[in-house]
Amino acid sequence: MYDLKNYKIKAEPVILGIESSCDETACAVIKGRKILSDIIVSSASQQALYGGVVPEIASRAHTDAVDEAAAQALKEAGISPDEVDAVAVTYGAGLLGALLVGLSFAKAFAHAKNIPLIAVNHIRGHMAAAYLVKNDLKPPFITLLASGGHTAVLHTKSVLEAEVLASTCDDAAGEAFDKVARVLGLPYPGGPNVQKLAEGGRRTIEFPSALIRHGDGKTFSYSGLKTAVINYMHSAEQRGQKVKREDVAASFECAAIDPLIKKTVEFALEKGVQTVTAGGGVIANDYLRKQLASACLSAGITLVLPEKRFCTDNAAMIASEGLNQYLAGNFAPLSINARAAIPLK
Ligand code: KG4
Ligand code: ZN
Repeated sequence: MYDLKNYKIKAEPVILGIESSCDETACAVIKGRKILSDIIVSSASQQALYGGVVPEIASRAHTDAVDEAAAQALKEAGISPDEVDAVAVTYGAGLLGALLVGLSFAKAFAHAKNIPLIAVNHIRGHMAAAYLVKNDLKPPFITLLASGGHTAVLHTKSVLEAEVLASTCDDAAGEAFDKVARVLGLPYPGGPNVQKLAEGGRRTIEFPSALIRHGDGKTFSYSGLKTAVINYMHSAEQRGQKVKREDVAASFECAAIDPLIKKTVEFALEKGVQTVTAGGGVIANDYLRKQLASACLSAGITLVLPEKRFCTDNAAMIASEGLNQYLAGNFAPLSINARAAIPLK
């Protein structure tokens, strides 16, 4: 019988983290904030044939990979299943069928070992990657979040509470990278390929900034920027003009990223917060990392920037947010269901 009545919360628990919200099956083991193992099995090469993530292919790939990935994560960590103190798993947001694979595995594991199940919001996982960089990191800080589904600047006030200061009103930054990649004839995954192309280009084209002009100063729009790039490419094609794709990529990259950096630093100064953190796939972008580092340095702000592999989807960040929830005693019932969407409050 599953019964946690006599369960004692530990200060430095061993947590098995599981992530399966999109095309990565990821399993990691942490003890306290120390990462003992971090396994990622990606179905990106299968998805690339279709130019994007096909949900059914993702679900099947998770089903094939999850047992082995969890076993490998435990083996590399030198931890036996009996030594795991809690299981943290992404329950949303993401592809429902994909989420259910990781969630079902986690429920079964928690039930079999009679240990807490911790349901992690994927986005909060991205935000918790920063704790893996600096184990003694403590709020308050400003968090720049930029992934395939979300773009926001948040005021992280405590380990469990964050306030959205600015966000996108339409597409996410990562989505724009992926769509612009397609227009530029680049394969999936778009973001890293746009970055590569941009490295050989110059910022010669004035695309509209992702921060809405004459707006409230806290709303981004990536749909408008994406449309501007599409229009630029089409009108050049109609006029028979040769386009330097590298310059389009570089100009887009700046229009997409510069306002994120500007608002992040502005909010840190406005709120009197000394530290900036960042998370989400777009934070793996080299131009963004360089610009954010130099803007924070100029403003005298400490930047806590996760390694690139902890910006894109991984399970160590899920375990890290799992630890936050664990220490607060936020355990999930085994009846919890996966959720395709969870609003960013
Ligand atoms: O956080 P993530 O791995 O998954 C979601 O939770 O959405 O983010 C994926 C997004 C994709 O849109 C991808 O194109 C983008 O992050 N991305 C990048 C880079 N690496 C990943 N965007 C720009 N430059 C990169 N180097
Ligand atoms: Zn993600």
